[in-house]
Amino acid sequence: MTPSQSTADVAVVGLGRVGLPLALSFADRGLRVVGVDNDPARLEAVRAGTMPFQETGTQELLDRVHASARLSLSERVADAARARHIVITLGTPSFSHIEIDMRDIRSALDDLLGVLSTGHSLILRSTIAPGTTEFVAGYLAKHRGFQIGEDVFVAHAPERIAAGRFLAEIDTLPCIIGGVGARSGEEVAELFGVFDAPIVQTTPVQAELAKIWANILRYTTFALPNLLMMDCERHAANVFEVIDLINRDYPRGGIAQPGLTAGTCLRKDFAFSEERSAAPGMLLAVSRVNESVPLFLLEGAKRRLGSLANRKVAVLGLAFKADTDDERDSLAHKLIRLLERELADVAVHDPHVSTPTVSFEDALDGAELVVVAANHSEFREQRALAAIAERAAPDCLVVDPWNCWGAAQVFAYASELVALLPAHPTPREARG
Ligand SMILES: NC(=O)c1ccc[n+]([C@@H]2O[C@H](COP(=O)([O-])OP(=O)(O)OC[C@H]3O[C@@H](n4cnc5c(N)ncnc54)[C@H](O)[C@@H]3O)[C@@H](O)[C@H]2O)c1
Repeated sequence: MTPSQSTADVAVVGLGRVGLPLALSFADRGLRVVGVDNDPARLEAVRAGTMPFQETGTQELLDRVHASARLSLSERVADAARARHIVITLGTPSFSHIEIDMRDIRSALDDLLGVLSTGHSLILRSTIAPGTTEFVAGYLAKHRGFQIGEDVFVAHAPERIAAGRFLAEIDTLPCIIGGVGARSGEEVAELFGVFDAPIVQTTPVQAELAKIWANILRYTTFALPNLLMMDCERHAANVFEVIDLINRDYPRGGIAQPGLTAGTCLRKDFAFSEERSAAPGMLLAVSRVNESVPLFLLEGAKRRLGSLANRKVAVLGLAFKADTDDERDSLAHKLIRLLERELADVAVHDPHVSTPTVSFEDALDGAELVVVAANHSEFREQRALAAIAERAAPDCLVVDPWNCWGAAQVFAYASELVALLPAHPTPREARG
């Protein structure tokens, strides 16, 4: 089927945390959408009208789209060619070799190769290593002889929205479009013009660099206070007081707060620069700092409590950041594995994730160590600290790199923390 005979306006290939909200948003703006995913359970959930993950406002959006019947679903990537615009929102993990894993994108490209025709546009919304858009354009030119930018259009339009803010940011964040050849940029701008966000045209590689470097900036921004937290422990200093000294009334301050820094984007996107870096190892070191925070917290606890073997440890939060149900690439999992290797009895509570966890009360009862792994809003309330003091063991140590209750102690006993609580604690901002 050629785009002139198309029965849909846009196809979204990969109905994950990026693709599904985008497909629903296109449909909500009146476009006829084909949603493609090779996971039957994912398709079944959408068909049944149930969002398979939390994303603010999207259940209501799915309800509306269901009623409008503007979204059709398929397991076959080739069905995407029913639409003029094909948006790829597949996962792009990193191999442990510090190299982009493009297998899903390559597989979708091969499925599309035979069905693409003049007038189609292929938009890479996934996060990709510099040069990938030109590779995709070259692949289509090589195997099908298309003139990219003249008869078939290829562009990178990176997803820059933070989890939980999709519907707010789709209409506000500048939409970067890096089109290949003469007309790809304007073709793709027509599609994204259904949203209210300003469109910024650039080259494909600049779009790729802008996306990954925004995440590298964020990853590095959080590595610095995490390294400072470790430095402070060595010098018996208080990291929150040092951060306050750096930032207070100082125009060149601005260091962030410590915490567990990971998640499916930050943890791997740096690798897309590191794989051919001019300063090999620099970003790897940033990653190592963030990756060593769970071990730092565990060792700090052991220094204060001694062996953790056969002692109950409550881990609060499995998600990779506050107030999300996304636990992919969360450092909480690493922390739990490390605790288990100490033969600790680990009890986990998270009110957001779909993985079953024990109740807040059951996690705390008799715990000798409580680690706040994700700073969910529920944990930042004073009553959460009160519950820890009430239910955990009398000399329970609390590890809170987030400064959830404004007590400004990474390691403190629950009794001390309750006494230190300011009248009006200022919980730290959620990271994401
Ligand atoms: N999650 C975020 O917050 C976020 C933000 C910005 C950018 N990104 C980037 O967007 C991309 C997608 O991320 P995500 O979190 O939505 O990933 P995801 O894993 O949630 O979604 C990918 C979807 O593609 C499906 N899939 C895999 N292979 C397929 C195939 N061959 N054919 C059809 N469907 C297939 C999977 O079943 C899954 O539903 C990645 O490059 C990621 O780095 C993600």
